[in-house]
Amino acid sequence: MKAIRICVLAGDGIGKEVTEWGVKALEAVGPFHGMSFEFKNELLGHAAIEATGQPLPEATLVSCREADAVLLGAIGDPLYDNNPQLKVRPEQGLLALRKGLKLFANIRPILLFDELLDASPLKKTVIQGTDILFFRELTGGIYFGTPRGRKENDTVAFDTKIYAKYEVERIARMAFEAAQSRKKVLHSVDKANVLESSRLWREVVQELASEYPEVQVHHIFVDNAAMQLIKDPTQFDVVVTGNMFGDILTDEASQIAGSLGMLASASVGEVVGLYEPIHGSAPDIAGQNIANPLATILSTALMLDRSLEAPAAAKHIVASVKLVLKNGFRTRDIMDDQTDKNKILGTKEMGQKVIETIKELVAVSI
Ligand code: IPM
Ligand code: MG
Repeated sequence: MKAIRICVLAGDGIGKEVTEWGVKALEAVGPFHGMSFEFKNELLGHAAIEATGQPLPEATLVSCREADAVLLGAIGDPLYDNNPQLKVRPEQGLLALRKGLKLFANIRPILLFDELLDASPLKKTVIQGTDILFFRELTGGIYFGTPRGRKENDTVAFDTKIYAKYEVERIARMAFEAAQSRKKVLHSVDKANVLESSRLWREVVQELASEYPEVQVHHIFVDNAAMQLIKDPTQFDVVVTGNMFGDILTDEASQIAGSLGMLASASVGEVVGLYEPIHGSAPDIAGQNIANPLATILSTALMLDRSLEAPAAAKHIVASVKLVLKNGFRTRDIMDDQTDKNKILGTKEMGQKVIETIKELVAVSI
């Protein structure tokens, strides 16, 4: 059995604590599905700047390219957030990695476990049944557009939001394909009433729509989308949008699922798939054993499904997470008034609980 090579980029803050459990989940599930893994750790973000001066060392990029899949924790450090003057920044590492691996599609499922209906700040009646698949464009738009910079003695700053037709087309096509295989409803989010780049976006999506006659397409402005997501999330099934709108809307949508700590993501493109929780490095809770490892564990399920052709193993992980939640176990971010105080777990304990359940679930099904 040839080992599957996973490049692990723990990154900063809680990154190390959560990727540890992603790795352990893969190790636990592998043998039951005829897989074994080989993990290689590399540096990214602040950790990489400290060690090498670069947010994305060449060695990291090379290891990612050589791997069958990449597991990422999170990057970022308050040192930079509070000092906008610093020129070398952890986020540059993540952006360069996305670009370097041509990860143009960021897929973010807003998966609501019934067990967490009470963890959301939104009303149960509003969120029940939510299951949204976001396609966020990841290597274009305002995150990468040039020119960008300062002028007039540093008193004026500017960024450029730019999209080429092919960039819109390839992400929209992925979203159409997904919509076709799901409920056949696609929302394309833009700001075409104001932005030229959004008018191109809308034009391209409209053009593609003729190739997918069964898919009902709704074009929706981003401000309205932000409102509708909270008002009536179940109207959405597949959503496609640009880089920055997708960044913002998926953080918003995480509240439907109870916590940012529950949301996994897949970034895919032409080289290798990268899997990461959508949350950040959360420096305020780093090193305290309270971060929720479930988003990272669920990211390994996406990895198994999308990069490793192991959908049964992916289901095995998701079912194990669901069972742990059903049995009442919670990390702090997903607890509510009903939570049994004895079942509030730390990062390690929650990770361990999932690993045990992965092993038990197999025993039951055999
Ligand atoms: C995300 C993050 C990143 C982004 C940051 C850390 C650069 O917020 O993956 O959603 O904005 O893309
Ligand atoms: Mg974000």
